[in-house]
Amino acid sequence: MYYPDDLIEEIRLKNDIVEVISDYVKLQKKGSSYFGLCPFHNEKSPSFSVTPSKQMYYCFGCGEGGNVFTFLMKYENDTFPEAVSRLADRAGIELPKAEYSNEEKKDRDIKTKILEVNKEAAKFFYHQLRSPNGEQGYRYFKERGLSDETMTKFGLGYSLKYSNSLYEYLKKKGYDDEILKESGLVKYSEKGMYDAFWNRVMYPIMDNGNKVIGFGGRVLGDGKPKYINSPETKVFDKGRNLYGMNFARTSRRGNIIICEGYMDVIALHQAGVDNAVASLGTAFTPGHAHMIKRYTDQVLLTFDSDGAGVKAALRAIPILRNAGLSVKVINMRPYKDPDELIKNMGTDEFEKRIVEAENAFIYEIRMLMNQFDLKDPDEKTRFYGQVADRLLLFSDEMERNVYVDTVCEEFMIPKESMERLVYKKSLTYTGEPAAQSRVNETEKNTKKQDDGVKQSQKILLTWLIEDNTIYDKIKSIITESDFIDPFYNKVATKLFEQLGRGEVNPARILSSFTGEDEQKEAAGLFHASLSEGLSNQEKEKSLNEIIKKVKNNSLDYVSNTTTDVGVLQNTIKEKAKLRNLHISI
Ligand code: GTP
Ligand code: MN
Repeated sequence: MYYPDDLIEEIRLKNDIVEVISDYVKLQKKGSSYFGLCPFHNEKSPSFSVTPSKQMYYCFGCGEGGNVFTFLMKYENDTFPEAVSRLADRAGIELPKAEYSNEEKKDRDIKTKILEVNKEAAKFFYHQLRSPNGEQGYRYFKERGLSDETMTKFGLGYSLKYSNSLYEYLKKKGYDDEILKESGLVKYSEKGMYDAFWNRVMYPIMDNGNKVIGFGGRVLGDGKPKYINSPETKVFDKGRNLYGMNFARTSRRGNIIICEGYMDVIALHQAGVDNAVASLGTAFTPGHAHMIKRYTDQVLLTFDSDGAGVKAALRAIPILRNAGLSVKVINMRPYKDPDELIKNMGTDEFEKRIVEAENAFIYEIRMLMNQFDLKDPDEKTRFYGQVADRLLLFSDEMERNVYVDTVCEEFMIPKESMERLVYKKSLTYTGEPAAQSRVNETEKNTKKQDDGVKQSQKILLTWLIEDNTIYDKIKSIITESDFIDPFYNKVATKLFEQLGRGEVNPARILSSFTGEDEQKEAAGLFHASLSEGLSNQEKEKSLNEIIKKVKNNSLDYVSNTTTDVGVLQNTIKEKAKLRNLHISI
């Protein structure tokens, strides 16, 4: 959904940042700012500041900063449109409704209806569990150690022994067969409609907005199948939902724990480990990994310690790694899963296992090792060969060397032999390893140069925001088009427009960026303090250097990209002028 800038700005203006953040953080006034304990990192004394005049927040401890939208994106893990809609609600502003085609409208109507049906069903199951008819289910959960509070939090329920009580109930509520079939809660045979779930304890599956999108149902004893899950429907995409994510998303633990089952997630949350999610028997997908990546860079796996669990972990690790997540594996032995471990050894032991979690690469090698009989020289050689193959997958030399060290130490492999083996294999990889590292060197150098160019544009922007008076002194030399980095160019365009009007408004610039990374980077520009502590002379010198650098780069860029002789001649003239430039402050 695209919202016009003015609307975004109206929403921002009607949501005072001090009021909004006060809903989440206890703030105290100190001078012209407010201070509190930072919600984004652990601290004992307040370094989290909220400045009403700027309508921005900034933490001097961890560097998080931004405006009201950024705050909610970070705290609630909202996307930009979600934060916009949350704040619009808060301020009583109505957002324009999207225009849909008839086809889309019909689809949305069906989705809305399914969600309604699911909600009714969840309520039905919930009440049955707490009624005399559901006593068996209630006892089952109690015996598995769940408190009433936990049962309520997860909306647990019970489906009755009769095979169509939910169907009858929903029918009476006025839902037609068509929509009930679409919901997956009711099935059809020659004999008529019947419930998909009966005589099972019920786990509603919620999306990130706490909407019930499906169900899992477990037999009370040892019957088969142990679990039945809702089929995929228009609202339930199994590859994109993780059980427990609606709670885990606001956890402050800084990582996500992935386990296999409903009971693992519930037991962990009950034990205060509120960052646990499960993929629920379906294979872990890149969609899952992508979703997790929105919240954290670090995941811990606690898959079952049986063969199937190890297999699932080995399948999930590369998927997670490819999504840019760092992965560790929690050892649950001698227990099968987190639920059993916590029940038998307590939460403290689980917390200890978290701290001791093993790097996923080492885990992969350990599992690989189990497939070889290391007493046999041939097998041992093959094992070493496969270890070397995997080490070669690290393209970064430094990282690879670190892993060579760690793996050799961990598995008592003679390091020199492994180094030689990796080296030898690298020859057949690329032909000549030295050549490869030379390529890497040039790559690194261009990267460094790029960073220098970007860096000077960044500093100039920060400076302009910090001290608006500089604008008048440089505007005849530097314009927004001199910021050749696409991102800084966007910031510069907005900023120069505001400076031109003599009205700088950083929070407004920030809300024109909708991506989390961009917002973070823009927020960084507005908070760095550059000239503090510099003498005027030093300031003048740095400013002149930076301006020359930015302008030079921009002129280089123009002369490298233009085909117009006139433009080219002009850049040469400009460059000459630049050499003699001096701005005084
Ligand atoms: P408990 O015995 O209740 O502790 O089960 P668990 O959560 O330890 O489950 P298990 O490790 O056996 O399986 C992990 C997850 O896979 C479950 O939570 C279910 O989501 C799913 N699952 C397990 N058994 C079945 C099954 O028979 N059918 C289907 N469709 N899914 C299953
Ligand atoms: Mn279990």
